[in-house]
Amino acid sequence: EKAGYKHFMAKEIAEQPVVLADALKHYSRDGALTLPEGVDFTGVDRVTMVACGTANYACQVAKYWFEQIAGLPCDVDIASEFRYREPPLSDRSWAVFVSQSGETADTLAALRYARDKVARIVSVVNVTTSSIARESDVSLPILAGVEVGVASTKAFTCQLSVLMLLAIKAGLDRGRLTEEDAKAHLADLALLPGLMNHALGLAAEISGIAEKLAEAQDILFLGRGAMFPLALEGALKLKEISYIHAEGYASGELKHGPIALIDNRVPVIVLAPHDALFEKTVSNMQEVMARNGQVLLISDGEGIRVAGHGCWKTLAMPDVPDRLAPILYAIPAQLLAYHTAIAKGTDVDQPRNLAKSVTVE
Ligand code: M6R
Repeated sequence: EKAGYKHFMAKEIAEQPVVLADALKHYSRDGALTLPEGVDFTGVDRVTMVACGTANYACQVAKYWFEQIAGLPCDVDIASEFRYREPPLSDRSWAVFVSQSGETADTLAALRYARDKVARIVSVVNVTTSSIARESDVSLPILAGVEVGVASTKAFTCQLSVLMLLAIKAGLDRGRLTEEDAKAHLADLALLPGLMNHALGLAAEISGIAEKLAEAQDILFLGRGAMFPLALEGALKLKEISYIHAEGYASGELKHGPIALIDNRVPVIVLAPHDALFEKTVSNMQEVMARNGQVLLISDGEGIRVAGHGCWKTLAMPDVPDRLAPILYAIPAQLLAYHTAIAKGTDVDQPRNLAKSVTVE
């Protein structure tokens, strides 16, 4: 079943170019979207996205897309907070629930809370027969195939792709995007499987870096913009399977507290493609280096050329259209966690204390 891989997680990381291409093919044809009819954002005043764990980080990335591509106000909540906070919801809004298993107890309870309060309950799930899928007005499968590893990998990138397609549709329905713009976005998405294959080719280099990371007690991940939630995801993945304490921060938050942690024993992983925010992130990175922090800069060729000097390590990613960087950079984040866990000899597919599907609160 592991198809020659040592772990399900390794297999599932490697499958991403193929499953992502399948998902894109399912939801678009000839440069146009083929989302189900119920997906029409006309008159929708807000999207509220609710999920747990990695699925929540996918929502946090998508918030940037809904706001920037579609100009649509967007909230993201943790399901266990949402359900008990009982927030007021607009009857013109959509509530979007994202879940690999479709059975996460808090996410399901949050969905039931939102029922009858919002215009539409939409879910983005992997398991199409799940409770969350069944109880939604519209359910969009992410088509990742069965995910066995407790650490979610291919479900995350497929969730992101489907959420990006929704943001494009919202942009069209709200008159923010022309058909031509949408076509250009879809053409960018179609580049991802190839770029992911390229990123997967960095595994040997990442495994070398991971051997060093495995010695650390604490690791920080930094990112800005839509790369901030990816920093959270990188930290979650690492702590889940390697048991190393890791935190993700928005780069700009560094000087508001976490910089106090920095010394030469704390690796700081900076997820920063050479985009409009790059210089800002680099200045945060330099603050880390000035305190002897060990920086691993994950960027593209240009980013590393401009800012790689003085870093502990650099990892050169292929160029990627700006908005899609969180999807592509998920691969090195996953591979770093995986190889660090291997170096530590932990149980990658069945980490201690964790279940694949959290059906109790
Ligand atoms: O099945 P779900 O997507 O609803 O699960 C949500 C979280 O429990 C899940 O993403 C968890 O955080 C993973 N173990 C992360 O790798």
